[in-house]
Amino acid sequence: MKGLVLSGGKGTRLRPFTYTGAKQLVPVANKPVLFYALEDLVEAGITDIGIVISPETGEQVKAAVGDGSRFRARVEYIVQDAPRGIAHGIKIAHDFIGTERFILFLGDNFIRDGIVPQVAAFREGTMNAQIILYKLDDPSSMGVAILDGDGRVKRLVEKPRQFISPYGVIGIYMFDHHVFEAVNAIQPSARGELEITDTIQYLIDHNLDVRAHLLSGGWIDTGKMSDILEANRLVLDILEAKNEGQVDSTSIIEGRVVLQAGAVVHNSRIRGPAIIGERTRIENAFVGPYTSIYHDCLIRHCEIEHSVVLEHSTLMDIPTRIADSLIGRNTRVTRADGPPKTLKMVIGDYSQVGI
Ligand code: G1P
Repeated sequence: MKGLVLSGGKGTRLRPFTYTGAKQLVPVANKPVLFYALEDLVEAGITDIGIVISPETGEQVKAAVGDGSRFRARVEYIVQDAPRGIAHGIKIAHDFIGTERFILFLGDNFIRDGIVPQVAAFREGTMNAQIILYKLDDPSSMGVAILDGDGRVKRLVEKPRQFISPYGVIGIYMFDHHVFEAVNAIQPSARGELEITDTIQYLIDHNLDVRAHLLSGGWIDTGKMSDILEANRLVLDILEAKNEGQVDSTSIIEGRVVLQAGAVVHNSRIRGPAIIGERTRIENAFVGPYTSIYHDCLIRHCEIEHSVVLEHSTLMDIPTRIADSLIGRNTRVTRADGPPKTLKMVIGDYSQVGI
């Protein structure tokens, strides 16, 4: 079996982060979300992986993943000229997949417990396709599935306006070669994309065996800001403490904290679960639960909790505790020199600030 990971798209819901980076490289607990997908595939025994990239962010994805050897996988890249839909991603991967069964994994989907049981069921079974469902009160922002009594999928609707079922279809799908017939037959939707839901509906309408697996563990589509904080909480909750950095005698580390190589903690308190990235310095500061500070940051004279800070950023001399925040790359948040007492800001497009 092969793996196909989609890592293109524009990431409009993650602006401003996605102006300078691929949405699949936004870190969750200091690791790009895409890496979790690759690790999940390898853990399920799938090491032959194609990654669909876009002309805009493809080079960044290539630089981060390389030839896949660090994941013990073999990675090939397939360029999608424009965001023409998930099913279009399958279509252009036909040469790479050949006639094998494969797992399609959307690179911004995060699943806490991996995909080993689902892949095993698909490998051993005779079904033509398998989708994974997540029960939600309101799945209206997803593809939604209606099931018959014995685990077969009857109907799929992309982002239904009215409630039809609680089962959202998550971005991990398993197919055999019949899917290529489907992606070549369907037409673009109203949003101009070849939809994965239409693809699966085609398989159902042609009497192929499409099954569903109901997920019990956590799943998150990290395409939205609030979901990044949530995915971060999920991972930090199961992270094991580790210290590869330096902590001086005037600092206190409480609970499960990971200090990555070269992290320095000086005269500060870190209350886990939290992760401090490579070469990041925490000085005279408090870092509270559910915080991930990525590499090469400086946190000095300030307090922060339940937040994610991306690489090369500085937070310094801030009088109020920062919470529930996402702070981008190469940013600087400092106290403005007064008087007069002012708020002094240079804020990127599509940013949000709560004062
Ligand atoms: C896509 C699919 C949708 C699926 C979702 C999972 O939605 O079209 O069926 O439920 O991924 O993340 P999109 O992210 O394009 O809105």
